Amino acid sequence: MSNASPIWISDLTHYYNRQQSMPTLDDINLSIPQGQLTALIGRSGCGKSTLLQMVAGLLIPTEGAIRIRAHTVTKPSAKWNMMFQKPSLYPWMTVRENAALGLVFAGTYNQKKDRVEELLDMVGLSEHKDKNVQALSGGQQQRVALARSLATEPEVLLLDEPFSALDAFTRTALQTEVAQICHDQNITMVLVTHDIEEAVAMADQVVIMSHNPGQIVGEKSIPLAYPRDRNSAEFAELKDELFAEFETIDKAKQDKPFERLEVVRPKSTAPSVEKMLQQAS
Ligand SMILES: Nc1ncnc2c1ncn2[C@@H]1O[C@H](COP(=O)(O)OP(=O)(O)OP(=O)(O)O)[C@@H](O)[C@H]1O
Ligand SMILES: [Mg+2]
Repeated sequence: MSNASPIWISDLTHYYNRQQSMPTLDDINLSIPQGQLTALIGRSGCGKSTLLQMVAGLLIPTEGAIRIRAHTVTKPSAKWNMMFQKPSLYPWMTVRENAALGLVFAGTYNQKKDRVEELLDMVGLSEHKDKNVQALSGGQQQRVALARSLATEPEVLLLDEPFSALDAFTRTALQTEVAQICHDQNITMVLVTHDIEEAVAMADQVVIMSHNPGQIVGEKSIPLAYPRDRNSAEFAELKDELFAEFETIDKAKQDKPFERLEVVRPKSTAPSVEKMLQQAS
């Protein structure tokens, strides 16, 4: 399989329970190229977190499969790291200890100590390494979680609304930093967000989901260079276009709230499950 696409989501359908009349996720096909930053946007409850948890190996789909490079995802791995809305740090540990946790669990902290120091410097926490994490602001704690996620050198970084609890200034700064870090380190990122501006600020490709059932109903590429100028005409135009696509989807849903929408995007080039299994064997 080509290295050009480290994430393949193929024919994925999910029911949390068989009593559901509609699947939570319906026939999701998506391939994400190496190093691409993808934003997954959609209304609350459309299945964004469910899909991301499946990419992380925290949930197994009812049907279909996900592959990250040569691996069919069946369990979590340090190579594909997930970062949640809350930083989930250990409150009795210092910044350094929290940032080092992934490496400690992997048994590689002693070889990679310097990496933790570099990352804490990179996310602007040089002065805070020995502090207890409880002495940090929400934005600083989110940076610790980011350093921890990056310390294990993941190929894939999965972010579930990681900045939504932060103030606008911190959020904007972190959006810019994380996009830059992922680009510099060739990390493939998938970001779940409600925030259209965040998607345009960070992503190369925006995937639009609809609800009841959770479907992918659109894709839009964001061909802007990094760092992005949020005051540029191109930025405003792309944001407006995404809003307009959302409105169209919402309108279609108001007319037919519990029906599948016609998928406007071309069928993904992701291989079928059978083909993936053949390639895996
Ligand atoms: N563990 C679960 N058991 C049963 N149903 C669930 C479970 N987790 C989520 N759901 C349902 O699946 C649907 C999708 O939930 P999910 O959390 O993936 O949505 P989301 O798009 O991330 O929403 P939000 O934007 O509010 O975070 C929702 O209807 C939700 O109620
Ligand atoms: Mg969610």
